[in-house]
Amino acid sequence: MSEWKKICLVNDIPVLGSRRVARERGMDVAVFRNSEDQVFAVLDRCPHKGGPLSQGIVFGTSVACPLHNWTIELEDGCARAPDEGCVQKFSCKVEAGIVHLDHTELATLAIDVTPPRAGPGSTTGALGDASFDVQAPHTA
Ligand code: FES
Repeated sequence: MSEWKKICLVNDIPVLGSRRVARERGMDVAVFRNSEDQVFAVLDRCPHKGGPLSQGIVFGTSVACPLHNWTIELEDGCARAPDEGCVQKFSCKVEAGIVHLDHTELATLAIDVTPPRAGPGSTTGALGDASFDVQAPHTA
């Protein structure tokens, strides 16, 4: 049985934007909101070369990585063909406008995945008392 942790209000996430949720161990989790107010959560690390997906462009149920434009499907965390690879997906639910993530998954999934050693993705994962921050939606 899941133990859910309150993260933020759906309205705290910009439409077509994201928030990053810091964890005690492991890289941040990126929580996305699309134009239909659907919410998704994946590790903030592109399966290609570790780009910060939280800074990508959200469209439909996908995000385009800001580094090399791979499309990652947010429902399963997998790259759209012809690209290959998946990022860790996290369970999330929205109840009464509040976004929840699974407490056990936050504490255990992908905690051994490391940030890239250089590049924009290397700046994610900062810990501190700010447990998340806002990534503004990108405009074309
Ligand atoms: S790091 Fe994301 S597409 Fe290359």
